[in-house]
Amino acid sequence: MAANDIKRIGILTGGGDCPGINAVIRAVAKTAMFEHGWECFGIEDAFLGLIEDRIRPLTRWDVSNILTRGGTILGTSNKSDPKRFSVGKDNHGNPIFQDVRERAMENARKYKLDAIVVIGGDGTMTCAAGLIPLGLKCIGVPKTIDNDLMHTHVTFGFQTAVETATDALDRLHTTAASHHRIIVVELMGRNAGWLTLHAGIASGSDVILIPEIPYSLDRICDFCRERMQGRKAFTIAAVSEGAKPVGGEQVVDRTIVDSPDPIRLGGIAQVLQRQMEERLAIESRAVVLGHVQRGGTPCAADRVLATRFGHAAAELVARGEFNRLVVIQNGGLTSVPIEEVAEQQRLVSLDSELLTAARAVGTCFGD
Ligand code: F6P
Repeated sequence: MAANDIKRIGILTGGGDCPGINAVIRAVAKTAMFEHGWECFGIEDAFLGLIEDRIRPLTRWDVSNILTRGGTILGTSNKSDPKRFSVGKDNHGNPIFQDVRERAMENARKYKLDAIVVIGGDGTMTCAAGLIPLGLKCIGVPKTIDNDLMHTHVTFGFQTAVETATDALDRLHTTAASHHRIIVVELMGRNAGWLTLHAGIASGSDVILIPEIPYSLDRICDFCRERMQGRKAFTIAAVSEGAKPVGGEQVVDRTIVDSPDPIRLGGIAQVLQRQMEERLAIESRAVVLGHVQRGGTPCAADRVLATRFGHAAAELVARGEFNRLVVIQNGGLTSVPIEEVAEQQRLVSLDSELLTAARAVGTCFGD
């Protein structure tokens, strides 16, 4: 489809919210309206709105004054894969799934949407990839505090989450030092350690545990003992929710059966805090940062990134380059096929220069 054939685009936001989503919506819609004269429609609550026909026009005033606002003005959902959509429960309470992709496509046709800009993480891109064979024309924008999307060096929302988590770790540092305690702080990130690694380095956390490096409790306790002998009677441990011991499992908080990614991690901080207190006989506390890391206004870097991503997404639509994800590689904007990021996660590589630097300044990774 050539640029001048585009008249209307849809925008949807899927998966967990994060700072900067509204900044992307604004950049996509303003570029679409001001540069190309297209009409914009907001699809509510991710693919759920496309399935349930909850689609509304977006005017320039709807997308004005939202650059700094956290969350998403369109709402979101992480339980609405049209290919595997929960339509109720059987007699045993198990969800019944249906493929409702055709219904979703009917609604896209009903509103004459020539393309949809899909703002989300790997789960949302997997949903989008499932609709491409049925004719969906989409452009993806990489969103997640986890920073775990393949082929992009950074996702928007990540930098703000790092700032938030770093601020929390800094504050906890003062309590740990004053009370001579161990404080185990649990950060989000699912199976990727990016958020914990960056916030841990930025805050000078003594121990950093990430899912990519299984830890040994003995090694961590030895490290704390050495600190105590060196007159550091406190320790700050920044721990990914997905961290696990050598030969052990991640701690699962709950399973959400109708979510494309049903496992919700959580609880590792309490487990470690008890184990460390018992072994080291030092008063310890566990702190779970949780959804605080996803909230609030985006930092300046995320506002800039979101604006670049949103503009680039609209320009891909204009050039008729569909079914691609806008990405940042080596500081520059480019794009990759959405199918290449679906059902994949980008993890911290064990030869990362970040790990080397952190180890060099004395950080314990539990290995
Ligand atoms: O993917 C973003 C994220 O915040 C993860 O870091 C975390 O594991 C998960 O979402 C939590 O999901 P929910 O909002 O469903 O609790």
